[in-house]
Amino acid sequence: MSEIPGWMTKRIESLKVVENKKLSKDVFVLELTGSGRIPEMKPGQFVQVKIDGSPGTFLRRPLSIHDVNYSQNTFRLLVQIAGKGTEALSRLRNGDPVNLIYPLGNSFSLPSKGERILLTGGGCGVAPLLFLGKYLKSNGFIPDILLGFRSSERVIEYDEYSGLGKVFLTTEDGSLGTKGFITDHPILSSNRYDVIYCCGPAPMMKAVARYCKEQNIRCEVSLENLMGCGIGACLCCIVDTVNGNVCTCTDGPVFNINDLKW
Ligand SMILES: Cc1cc2nc3c(=O)[nH]c(=O)nc-3n(C[C@H](O)[C@H](O)[C@H](O)COP(=O)(O)OP(=O)(O)OC[C@H]3O[C@@H](n4cnc5c(N)ncnc54)[C@H](O)[C@@H]3O)c2cc1C
Ligand code: FES
Repeated sequence: MSEIPGWMTKRIESLKVVENKKLSKDVFVLELTGSGRIPEMKPGQFVQVKIDGSPGTFLRRPLSIHDVNYSQNTFRLLVQIAGKGTEALSRLRNGDPVNLIYPLGNSFSLPSKGERILLTGGGCGVAPLLFLGKYLKSNGFIPDILLGFRSSERVIEYDEYSGLGKVFLTTEDGSLGTKGFITDHPILSSNRYDVIYCCGPAPMMKAVARYCKEQNIRCEVSLENLMGCGIGACLCCIVDTVNGNVCTCTDGPVFNINDLKW
């Protein structure tokens, strides 16, 4: 393991796969452990994974920290197969080494005492929400959780969320929960939330951001812009904000929607 100079909490480290669990046809969870203690990580932060094996996967791939278990010295990544890199990760077996730069980026902010909270997201974009839900619970908050998927076969990890708050579901085809998108769910009109945390596909986050702006609700989203280096060097993850262009990898990936030019 080596530390990136000047980034005392960031590491380049070879970890080991403890488990590679398939959740559906194209989604899996990688559980990793280190030879030493894993570092403190915050919900919203991500890792840059090195993919060994082909020139087509030369650049590391960014993945959100999905869940952390300090007592077991493990953490998990929830991955959807999107191309060569994630496909290669899906083939990893117990004991295989995985090289990471982590933990990277900023994190979601904690709400204030007494605030009503909604965690919402969809598809594989829900990855950082489980860690955030657990973090909120350990800090005394009980959020509502609204998850959106295309259909019942695409629903993942519903049970993992049920201990963290009240869970609501939407599916686009109506095969489970409320039919439609997360913004169609009646809990949004029947509740007044103080803060909404959202991650998922960009159109979903933009729809939630629109709703929050209309309702004057504080909202943080986690962006999944294309990334190269993950550490602020290549500028390929630039996002336009009210403060000018910033790097999603170092100034984000979590942004307050009022800072984004959406
Ligand atoms: C901060 C951050 C956190 C992320 N967290 C997760 C996560 O927890 N789980 C997960 O499954 N994925 C996550 N992603 C997306 C993931 O990084 C990409 O799916 C992955 O890099 C694709 O690599 P690949 O080699 O499999 O596919 P490639 O061959 O590189 O690309 C395949 C297709 O996916 C598209 N793609 C590549 N990168 C992204 C991206 N960042 N966003 C949207 N589409 C992309 C490409 O345009 C192409 O169409 C995250 C991305 C970012 C920036
Ligand atoms: S990914 Fe290189 S600067 Fe953000």
